[in-house]
Amino acid sequence: MTRQLFVTTALPYANGKFHIGHIMEYIQADIWVRFQRMRGHQVHFVGADDAHGAPIMIAAEKAGKTPQQFVADIAAGRKEYLDGFHISFDNWHSTDGVENHELAQDIYRGLRDNGLIEVRAIEQFFDPEKGMFLPDRFIKGECPKCGAKDQYGDSCESCGAVYSPTELKNPYSALSGATPVLKTSDHYFFRLSDPRCVEFLQNWTTEPGKLQPEVLNKIKEWFTKDEEGQGGLGDWDISRDAPYFGIEIPDAPGKFFYVWLDAPIGYLASLKNWFDKGGPAAKYGDTRSFAEFMASPDIEQYHFIGKDITYFHTLFWPATLHFSGRRTPTNVFVHGFMTVNNGEKMSKSRGTGLDPLKYLSLGMNAEWLRYYIAAKLNSHVEDVDFNRDDFTARVNADLIGKYVNIASRAAGFIAKRFGGRLSADVGVEGRVLLDTLRAHRDTVTGLYEAREFGKVLREIMALADRVNEYVDQNKPWEIAKQAGQDAVLQDVCTVCIEAFRLLTIYLKPVLPALAAQVEAFLQVEPLDFHATERALGAHAIGSYQHLMQRVDPKLLEELFAAPEPEKVIPGGEDIAPEIKIDDFTKVDLRIARIVKAETVDGSTKLLRLTLDAGEGRTRNVFSGIASAYKPEDLEGKLTVMVANLAPRKMKFGVSEGMVLAASHADEKANPGVFVLEPFPGAQPGMRVR
Ligand code: MSP
Ligand code: ZN
Repeated sequence: MTRQLFVTTALPYANGKFHIGHIMEYIQADIWVRFQRMRGHQVHFVGADDAHGAPIMIAAEKAGKTPQQFVADIAAGRKEYLDGFHISFDNWHSTDGVENHELAQDIYRGLRDNGLIEVRAIEQFFDPEKGMFLPDRFIKGECPKCGAKDQYGDSCESCGAVYSPTELKNPYSALSGATPVLKTSDHYFFRLSDPRCVEFLQNWTTEPGKLQPEVLNKIKEWFTKDEEGQGGLGDWDISRDAPYFGIEIPDAPGKFFYVWLDAPIGYLASLKNWFDKGGPAAKYGDTRSFAEFMASPDIEQYHFIGKDITYFHTLFWPATLHFSGRRTPTNVFVHGFMTVNNGEKMSKSRGTGLDPLKYLSLGMNAEWLRYYIAAKLNSHVEDVDFNRDDFTARVNADLIGKYVNIASRAAGFIAKRFGGRLSADVGVEGRVLLDTLRAHRDTVTGLYEAREFGKVLREIMALADRVNEYVDQNKPWEIAKQAGQDAVLQDVCTVCIEAFRLLTIYLKPVLPALAAQVEAFLQVEPLDFHATERALGAHAIGSYQHLMQRVDPKLLEELFAAPEPEKVIPGGEDIAPEIKIDDFTKVDLRIARIVKAETVDGSTKLLRLTLDAGEGRTRNVFSGIASAYKPEDLEGKLTVMVANLAPRKMKFGVSEGMVLAASHADEKANPGVFVLEPFPGAQPGMRVR
């Protein structure tokens, strides 16, 4: 039976580039999706940017962009990563798309009609200068427990205490520095404490074979009330007050959905966008509408997520869907966190993280990483550490040493001695080996289905070991030297090529690009899991091209090298060559009063200054500072003048000196001209030395 699957990964916040944690999640989901497609199932694999929320709104403001523009600029950078790591999303959308606005409002109306929305007045910190309520992360102050300064409104990084922002001592707004004031406002709550919700979620989460055991344990904790009746499922505050970058709540002017209400709805929005564009029709001849697809009972819906967002996906999300009359996810697959080089926290500033784009730009093969991550993944919520020595060993010893080498050991003989043609049939020993490989298909597919990628790769590598044993025992390089042994040589090499083809089928979900190269080399149709049932027979294969390079440890050194500190050039230009004090004293610098400043007819750059340097006369000086100063702002001020500069004849008159001003070498990129002004007390005519 052809299954129909709707698969998503978590929607990344649109305020930053992808990091290795995102890529790890996409690789995990992509392997599973490619596996399902290779079994002949129909998969809609979609993602989107999570566009809304206060942090993105504030980041956009800082960048001088509208939130929409800010998010669009982030989105424009996504393709490079997704293509680079062979992530095969069918569609990528945004939670700020029209589909999401409509769906979120619709879903909200469903909850409201079900009597599950309640309005309550709550007190919250408000920034009087910015005119907005402050999210916890934007309130800072002294920790109420240990007194550490500059702590966030939700927890202390110094002592680990968790508190609410109102408990901070001397709180201030991280946006404006203003002291926040408490202000009351109506908030909209999703009444998850309603017995209907509690009952539904208790049933949904405990459906046999659904959630991972460790996820279920966490959920049990969340459900449990302590002795004082605290804890348990609380009602969920789903509204935020304007100004907020988000989706307006129907019939509630000035109120927006909290980003976590509309974010998972973005899964549906991206799928709807894919249907509205005719994606499923073109790919599978499926002409149903999005609504028809979602209403059909036999579709399956899966979400791949990281452990930090389990609460939202296993409680809020199914409840939101169920009580607005929609289907709930078939399952939520939770993974652990990616760490780099022995669990070091990923740090951008220290350059210890694994930058995915740097990885690609160094020419490192994306499939090394896919293979390595797959080898470390299982169906549990375990963290995955990237370790460079382990990475090198696994790729070089297993992937290349065990698998890729099989092809290179046999392909040359087939090409040179047999014009590329394989044997129609092979001997008993070879047949037994190939049958063994074929017999493992169900084990392999079962492990993929269960997301036991580490196990599946170990299984496949054990099969590769057997093939290599066969090669070592039969020694084609020796048969090749013996006269009259051509048929034997052709058989042995045919077994190798056929075995290589079978292993390629098994590895293809992890190594799609390599598999495509192999398909071209073997001159076969795209391989799927049915292809194990056939044999190549007396087929002609193409010429062998080197399939994959080994990992050079130097690349890893480069990958993890701290980024070169940018050479800071003061003011955009290097310091001039050294001079002696005599060179300096040649320049006679004097304090001068700007008696008069005027614009110059016919010049947008120059101001005409009348300067008094205490000589009993004034001087006429032209200065290129018109873009920076209005004449009236200069008059009466003191400045510094080069007093012994040869007079210069200009288009507008003679300039009898020069006023000192600072500017960047690249004035276009760093505009601004700054006239020097002495400390108070200096008098016109004093020498500067
Ligand atoms: N925007 C929310 C998700 C909304 S889903 C409706 C979000 N975004 S995120 O960018 O912070 O994280 C996106 C995904 O990356 C999450 O599944 C998260 O768990 C995962 N990861 C973030 N850091 C990670 C690692 N270091 N390792 C593995 N996955 C990690 O949360
Ligand atoms: Zn503290």
